Amino acid sequence: MKGRVCVRKVSLQLMFHLICGTVAECSRVFHAGGARLVLCGRTWEKLEALYDALISVADPSMTYTPKLILLDISDIDCIQDVAREILDCYGCVDVLINNASMKVKGAVQSISLELDKKIMDANYFGPVTLTKAILPNMISRRTGQIVLINSIQGKIGIPFRAAYAASKHAAVGFFDCLRAEMEEFDISVSTVNPTFIYSYHHQPVSGNWEASIWKLFFRKVEYGVHPVEVAEEVLRTVNSKKQEGLGKR
Ligand SMILES: NC(=O)c1ccc[n+]([C@@H]2O[C@H](COP(=O)([O-])OP(=O)(O)OC[C@H]3O[C@@H](n4cnc5c(N)ncnc54)[C@H](OP(=O)(O)O)[C@@H]3O)[C@@H](O)[C@H]2O)c1
Repeated sequence: MKGRVCVRKVSLQLMFHLICGTVAECSRVFHAGGARLVLCGRTWEKLEALYDALISVADPSMTYTPKLILLDISDIDCIQDVAREILDCYGCVDVLINNASMKVKGAVQSISLELDKKIMDANYFGPVTLTKAILPNMISRRTGQIVLINSIQGKIGIPFRAAYAASKHAAVGFFDCLRAEMEEFDISVSTVNPTFIYSYHHQPVSGNWEASIWKLFFRKVEYGVHPVEVAEEVLRTVNSKKQEGLGKR
């Protein structure tokens, strides 16, 4: 259990968002490793399903019960309240993992400006607002880790992904600058930039989430990076405090 020893140092982390490959798998890795999780998401049923899945396989004497919080990351006004609630409850956040993201595909002329703004809210202003809400606590403690699960599309642009790629470029720019500013406070800022992650919900299965989630974790993946690989990269990033990862070895 090499991961357990490393993750044990992490008493708390925040994670967005649920059920689809990456976060469910990240949650499993960190939960099993002994981290105290706060799982934030906008769909309560998915939060509960992940909660049930996590506690059903973990050893309760070696793990903490995750806390669930409803949060729509594009609802900028609510983020401060959620951050306050978490800080009031735990006193600090050691690791903040920004993962939630909204995707859109389409030609530039077919995507409304309103949708462009929604994407920016979810993928840029959301993580930025949450990070700003948690940051003063980290600065006062002179410790902390912020991880942004971003995308290779934060580095390169491809056709029909303008809004998504723009939001991911903006996020990577912000967090790169933040990294330089936070060095003096011993706060590490990392980005993980996967290419294509196989998402389980591309191939839905019948039955409820609880029954299917773990089966889905370990099914054979035909193409793309497996969420397990991304989760392992996130774990390596947290343990080594490295600046940038690609979401695979
Ligand atoms: N999948 C890929 O190929 C790929 C490639 C590179 C990078 N990434 C990045 O990796 C991360 C995870 O991607 P993924 O593919 O595992 O996830 P995903 O399948 O795209 O799911 C994204 C998650 O974000 C949540 N979300 C969307 N808008 C939200 C909002 N406003 N507030 C709260 N939660 C919200 C969704 O919640 P609901 O389920 O409730 O809608 C969903 O659980 C993202 O940052 C993504 O950009 C993904």
